[in-house]
Amino acid sequence: MKNPWLKLSILLLMWLSLCKLSFGADTITANKSLSGNQTIVSSGGNFVLGFFAPGSSSNYYIGIWYGKISEQTPVWVANRDTPVRDIHSSKLKISDGNLVLTNGSQVEIWSTNISSSNSSSVVAVLEDAGNLVLRDGPNSSAPLWQSLDHPAHTWLPGGKLSLNKRTNRSQLLTSWKNSEDPAPGLFSLELDPAGANTYFIRWNGTRQYWSSGPWDEQLRIFRNVPEMRLNYLYNFSFLYNFSFHSDENESYFTYSLHTNQTTSRLIMHYSGQIQDQSWLESNRQWNLFWSMPGQQCQVYAFCGSFGSCNEIDLPFCSCLRGFHPKSETNWNLSDFSDGCERTTRLQCEEDPNLVPGKTDKFLESPNVKLPERAQAMSVGSMLECESACLEYCNCTAYAYDRDGCRIWMTELLDLQQYSGDTSNGRTIYIRLAASEFRSSSNNNGIIIGAVAGGVGLVLCLMIFVILRWRRRRMINPKVEGSLLAFGYRDLQSATKNFSEKLGGGGFGSVFKGTLPDLSIIAVKQLESISQGEKQFRSEVSTIGAVQHVNLVRLRGFCSEGMNKLLVYDYMPNGSLDAHLFLEDNSKPLAWKTRYQIALGTARGLTYLHEKCRDCIIHCDIKPENILLDAELCPKVADFGLAKLIGREFSRVLTTMRGTRGYLAPEWISGVAITSKADVYSYGMMLFEIVSGRRNSEQNEEGKVGFFPTSVARAITQDGDVLSLLDPRLNEDAPVDEISRICKAACWCVQDDETHRPSMGQVVQILEGVLDVNVPPVPRSLQVLANNTEHIIFFTESSSSPSSQTPSNSSNASS
Ligand SMILES: *[C@@H]1O[C@H](CO)[C@@H](O)[C@H](O)[C@H]1NC(C)=O
Ligand SMILES: *[C@@H]1O[C@H](CO)[C@@H](O)[C@H](O)[C@H]1NC(C)=O
Ligand SMILES: *[C@@H]1O[C@H](CO)[C@@H](O)[C@H](O)[C@H]1NC(C)=O
Ligand SMILES: *[C@@H]1O[C@H](CO)[C@@H](O)[C@H](O)[C@H]1NC(C)=O
Ligand SMILES: *[C@@H]1O[C@H](CO)[C@@H](O)[C@H](O)[C@H]1NC(C)=O
Ligand SMILES: *[C@@H]1O[C@H](CO)[C@@H](O)[C@H](O)[C@H]1NC(C)=O
Ligand SMILES: *[C@@H]1O[C@H](CO)[C@@H](O)[C@H](O)[C@H]1NC(C)=O
Ligand SMILES: *[C@@H]1O[C@H](CO)[C@@H](O)[C@H](O)[C@H]1NC(C)=O
Ligand SMILES: *[C@@H]1O[C@H](CO)[C@@H](O)[C@H](O)[C@H]1NC(C)=O
Ligand SMILES: *[C@@H]1O[C@H](CO)[C@@H](O)[C@H](O)[C@H]1NC(C)=O
Ligand SMILES: *[C@@H]1O[C@H](CO)[C@@H](O)[C@H](O)[C@H]1NC(C)=O
Ligand SMILES: *[C@@H]1O[C@H](CO)[C@@H](O)[C@H](O)[C@H]1NC(C)=O
Repeated sequence: MKNPWLKLSILLLMWLSLCKLSFGADTITANKSLSGNQTIVSSGGNFVLGFFAPGSSSNYYIGIWYGKISEQTPVWVANRDTPVRDIHSSKLKISDGNLVLTNGSQVEIWSTNISSSNSSSVVAVLEDAGNLVLRDGPNSSAPLWQSLDHPAHTWLPGGKLSLNKRTNRSQLLTSWKNSEDPAPGLFSLELDPAGANTYFIRWNGTRQYWSSGPWDEQLRIFRNVPEMRLNYLYNFSFLYNFSFHSDENESYFTYSLHTNQTTSRLIMHYSGQIQDQSWLESNRQWNLFWSMPGQQCQVYAFCGSFGSCNEIDLPFCSCLRGFHPKSETNWNLSDFSDGCERTTRLQCEEDPNLVPGKTDKFLESPNVKLPERAQAMSVGSMLECESACLEYCNCTAYAYDRDGCRIWMTELLDLQQYSGDTSNGRTIYIRLAASEFRSSSNNNGIIIGAVAGGVGLVLCLMIFVILRWRRRRMINPKVEGSLLAFGYRDLQSATKNFSEKLGGGGFGSVFKGTLPDLSIIAVKQLESISQGEKQFRSEVSTIGAVQHVNLVRLRGFCSEGMNKLLVYDYMPNGSLDAHLFLEDNSKPLAWKTRYQIALGTARGLTYLHEKCRDCIIHCDIKPENILLDAELCPKVADFGLAKLIGREFSRVLTTMRGTRGYLAPEWISGVAITSKADVYSYGMMLFEIVSGRRNSEQNEEGKVGFFPTSVARAITQDGDVLSLLDPRLNEDAPVDEISRICKAACWCVQDDETHRPSMGQVVQILEGVLDVNVPPVPRSLQVLANNTEHIIFFTESSSSPSSQTPSNSSNASS
């Protein structure tokens, strides 16, 4: 070591950490309290207890967090809804046989609140499993109190979520309100109070919106948690080993982890989902492996009153038109529970003496899932239905369709906006003040008023316009490495204020724009970026350095505060899905083009995986992310986003509509993701390129078929491969090419990632350089069920490995 200062500072660091260890024993005694930035550390160093402030909050809480993870992640909080402001005058101490938190004025803020003992020998010990235990003396075995029995939002291994059979009360796992407020939120997980061995997730302690399904003692799984069924694929190596206990006092589940290699946690997340997250030290972030319910909008009333949930575009929540967030602060923290309120009061509220509701109007909102708690009215026409609603000032909406007239006398909860391609949406008419209907022309009104107001104002306006016009001319991005750094205003004007949307989806909307040199660009407005500025720029420049004929080129970016945008070359032929799944049958992509698209995409991915300086795993291969240039040459889009987006990435990936069908099983099984996950998604896409339809699609009888299963059967049982071809091509394709591409696809979707080829090998297979054997039928495909959630599911049919165990007996066990 050349630098003596370095040596010295390392020694100093070691000394400091020694000091900290020797102070930070794992016990709080009558003589030793905790205050300020002091902590106690469990014997093996796994957990730490002390004061913490979540996020940028200035409220402090006593909590337990992981000791060996670089991001402070609380697993338990004592004073959840009673924070303290000053940690140096606050104290956590033993008092009258209890562990008590007092603030600067010696007021008791929180207490373990037990009455059984007031002995002075009581101590609190932080154990290595994350349990804080209160004992009468260090050697006493029976705990007086333990934090595992009072969980906050994290279910730790060894913890139990129980039902007390004497009181019929169950122990709740309750979400935080948002990432900066550990106060109990609206969502909770609990054991069915009626006594079944099933967990529920409830909203506000009442409305149940998800159930784990009954426990199956034979299979050791909950029936509605398909991810647990992956146990069979992974030879029972799934992370969790749940077990059920019941006696006359209580019944509960507890679990252990199969491996100490990964740190993973089960949390009731403030998104209303129960989530399994695993810590990936390489990325220094928590990765989501599965969440229940799987879709964000299945969480009851997620967007609060007068909010609207959608799974088409981020953010998930928006206020209905004419409403705005009640708490802008919480809304920006993705805490939507406060909901929205009216921007303009209803006329009938302003002036109750008016002829009832004369001036309020209704806004038509088509294609939605209707809110609950409607009242049926027996009237015979839409007009009468509208009048029925206008009768009452607290009627907020009505619907009139084949089910007749219904009106809502409450706030609107749990409304969901469907995308264009769903047919089960209804139309609701939402009551708004009449003035809201002129609001679209408001701006003009203001400008006209200003002009009329005086010549001075006109001058101001002219100067403003000239300034704007000059600014528009002055798009002059800085050059950073191989990339252009744009100002937000530059992109605003290049895209005419984001007016021409090219697409929505995963991580933000894409807009078309034109630069002053007349080159056409696609601008992606990123959502849910959790990266810091420096990391963002470094990831962007990594992406910018990746250039290949089959990858969409990143030309520049914009990073101004919350505004994070990426600027790409514009691809005139849009994305592959539009060509594959088009409604009109006139111009299907020719076979030759399809083959070139498959090959080009594979080359692009090979470059990402093998030729870049750091291997880039795309993580989101699907037809929507394959763009086509003017010559229909394929270009892979959106690579590098996983690291750019940060911790929200996997959450978005696994909850967005139209993504799950392409996800490799390892995404939800808790093992590390490698480039073979892309190979799996690519294989799923190959099936769609051959068939010209989505892998999972309803046929005429309304049954859901799963195309890859038919391919696997045709390939392995010498079936008729021509029958697999998109019927619109009229069998106009060489059989050997179809067969080759189908075999490649089957190899790509093997359950075991080591059995899947690399992308480089896929290129060779498609080029005809490498010959392939007949692939085994992947177990996941063999046993795929007719389930709309076309992920990996097992049925109880004869081909299922679960049939080897008497799975029906599970009913008897409940
Ligand atoms: C606590 O302090 C008192 C005196 O202040 C002492 O007698 C007692 O032994 C101490 N107890 C412990 C557990 O250190
Ligand atoms: C703890 O707090 C003291 C006083 O506020 C401060 O001087 C010290 O640096 C802090 N120690 C750590 C490790 O943050
Ligand atoms: C302690 O808590 C009490 C009651 O909440 C409050 O009135 C008092 O101001 C607090 N004292 C300090 C120093 O925060
Ligand atoms: C302690 O328990 C009593 C009743 O058992 C209750 O009234 C009181 O609010 C509790 N205090 C705290 C701080 O939880
Ligand atoms: C608690 O202390 C009181 C008096 O300080 C005493 O009367 C009582 O017996 C004690 N209770 C226990 C369980 O030690
Ligand atoms: C606790 O146990 C240790 C060893 O098991 C023993 O040395 C010590 O005296 C015990 N302390 C008490 C208070 O019983
Ligand atoms: C608890 O629930 C069970 C079943 O619902 C019922 O039979 C029992 O009476 C309840 N007990 C109490 C204490 O409420
Ligand atoms: C939750 O329920 C309580 C009553 O149990 C009610 O006062 C409160 O308004 C409810 N919260 C919401 C957001 O509806
Ligand atoms: C599954 O586990 C068993 C026993 O642990 C082992 O013998 C077997 O080889 C494993 N099978 C696979 C496919 O990993
Ligand atoms: C799962 O846990 C149960 C109960 O703790 C235990 O008996 C069983 O051996 C565990 N299974 C595995 C595979 O670790
Ligand atoms: C995990 O660690 C605990 C203690 O640190 C040990 O008891 C347990 O056997 C370990 N489990 C495995 C699967 O290694
Ligand atoms: C509607 O408003 C009336 C008063 O205007 C009130 O009496 C009634 O309870 C309200 N109904 C509901 C469902 O809130």
